[in-house]
Amino acid sequence: MATTTIVRNHSGVFKIGGDMSVNRLGFGAMRITGSGVWGEPEDKEESLRTLRKLPELGIDFIDTADSYGPEVSERLIREALYPYKDIKIATKAGLARTGPNVWIPLGRPEYLRQQVILSIRRLGVERLDLWQLHRIDSKVPQNEQFDAIKAMQSEGLIRHVGLSEVGIKEIEAAQKFFKVATVQNRYNLVDRASEDVLDFCEKNNIGFIPWYPLAAGDLAKPGSRFEAIAKSHDAGPSQIALAWLLKRSPVMLPIPGTSKVKHLEENVAGANIELSDKEFAEISELSKQRH
Ligand SMILES: NC(=O)c1ccc[n+]([C@@H]2O[C@H](COP(=O)([O-])OP(=O)(O)OC[C@H]3O[C@@H](n4cnc5c(N)ncnc54)[C@H](OP(=O)(O)O)[C@@H]3O)[C@@H](O)[C@H]2O)c1
Repeated sequence: MATTTIVRNHSGVFKIGGDMSVNRLGFGAMRITGSGVWGEPEDKEESLRTLRKLPELGIDFIDTADSYGPEVSERLIREALYPYKDIKIATKAGLARTGPNVWIPLGRPEYLRQQVILSIRRLGVERLDLWQLHRIDSKVPQNEQFDAIKAMQSEGLIRHVGLSEVGIKEIEAAQKFFKVATVQNRYNLVDRASEDVLDFCEKNNIGFIPWYPLAAGDLAKPGSRFEAIAKSHDAGPSQIALAWLLKRSPVMLPIPGTSKVKHLEENVAGANIELSDKEFAEISELSKQRH
């Protein structure tokens, strides 16, 4: 499988909110925590090594959340990378954690505010580069959540605001309160339910952050045409899935997550694969046929 230690950076850059430039291949820091995204990672030193490797590879955009661990991911990012230099950190809040693999939407304004302040404290920054509402809480009026975010941005606690797991209607509703700089929805080669949201983001120059980006599912079965394309690039299926995402849209900011240096290097190599237009069309068609 192709690996690399230097990001060639042909994935290009994107300006979040029109003024915060990041390389389009980012890093997801959910996996540097314990099982069930709960507690400390199994191998803390390897998690720290993985984080420290990021700037060396040209990755300057990290996605995390207050709830990863909880707290563990943000703390490790600080331990490994403070004072961050050119790295931009995107964090989130809006999900309470009561145990491993348990995620409970919680969007009460006072809770969101508390979590923003605690993220600022844990990361050791004056202002969060990008803060995302992890989920809109259906138990709290939507406008109350948006209003609280607007206030935190006006106060300078947050530079740019993003949303997660939303549809176009919700983005438009939020835009009445603040500029929506990014949207983070689950999206990958074989799960394209958010295609309409991605097109909307592209039209409006909103960064689209696909989570679970490495999935290639059944396409990767031995003997498939997809496997042949992967082999011709000396690559694995998830590397091709990543290269496909980056070619899909200029607003695409994938954040593959890993707790291992070796996997990080493989993912960077995937982002450096240049698919031809023909290969891109063929892979898109193959993945559509699955649905
Ligand atoms: N907004 C949301 O609701 C939401 C939800 C989920 C995730 N996220 C964000 O999205 C990021 C990515 O999502 P994700 O972690 O679910 O999916 P992913 O990045 O597609 O996959 C991560 C999984 O793949 C493994 N992996 C990574 N690189 C690999 C490689 N080269 N070879 C073999 N295995 C590899 C990782 O394990 P190892 O550690 O063993 O490499 C991990 O189990 C997260 O880190 C988080 O920041 C957001």
